[in-house]
Amino acid sequence: MKIIQARDYGDMSRKAANVIAAQVIMKPDCVLGLATGSSPVGTYRQLIEWYEKGDVDFGDVTTVNLDEYRGISAENEQSYAWFMHHNLFDYVNINPERTHLPNGMNPDAGQECARYEELICQVGGVDLQLLGLGHNGHIGFNEPGDVFEKGTHCVDLQESTIEANKRFFASADEVPRQAYTMGIRTIMMARKILVIVSGEDKADIVQKAFFGPVVPRVPASILQMHPDVTVVADAAALSKCGSQK
Ligand code: GLP
Repeated sequence: MKIIQARDYGDMSRKAANVIAAQVIMKPDCVLGLATGSSPVGTYRQLIEWYEKGDVDFGDVTTVNLDEYRGISAENEQSYAWFMHHNLFDYVNINPERTHLPNGMNPDAGQECARYEELICQVGGVDLQLLGLGHNGHIGFNEPGDVFEKGTHCVDLQESTIEANKRFFASADEVPRQAYTMGIRTIMMARKILVIVSGEDKADIVQKAFFGPVVPRVPASILQMHPDVTVVADAAALSKCGSQK
């Protein structure tokens, strides 16, 4: 695991965008695994800027997103599909037919999860997976539990996650209670993983996830076992790691 310290959110975003841009330049038809949340917004903004300058070309790129709320449609402003369109897809030359997210409107969870796993296989697997880190150590929507969930599955969101994500909704009551998410195995099968973390509120979980024991209570801790993980975290997020980093 490589840990790169950034000064602040802006610096983290540029460094992460550099890693993604390098991936796209090295393999123009790569498969990017993408994430939502506040962590990647700056990274996407930077990529859009470089696309506009002609430095990055998304024409042959395929994307698969980590997760989607269950029960809300892609047209709903709170959906992750909407987020991706408004934070990246609509501003670069990506082919919309090659952008994929779980379908939150498929009521058949078993079928939707199997479809998404199969799709990831069909596109050839993920070359570079971008991840944010939840306060409770979740990645995608893999919540802390007794076991590492394997494939794409439907998850009951924990209260702390609903609480953290309510900022995007009118109230906590409107936050969906379930989501479809890539599983830990799905994420671990990505050839490269890039984790971005910013802010002092993540300092405790950064220390636990990347320097603590590998346990399903801290889902992100499994990343310590992956052969090619780069963490780009700002100084505040790394402030509790001391000399470990
Ligand atoms: C959300 C998403 C994750 C995201 C995480 C951190 O619930 N499902 O994919 O990485 O929480 O979000 P943020 O970057 O806003 O802190």
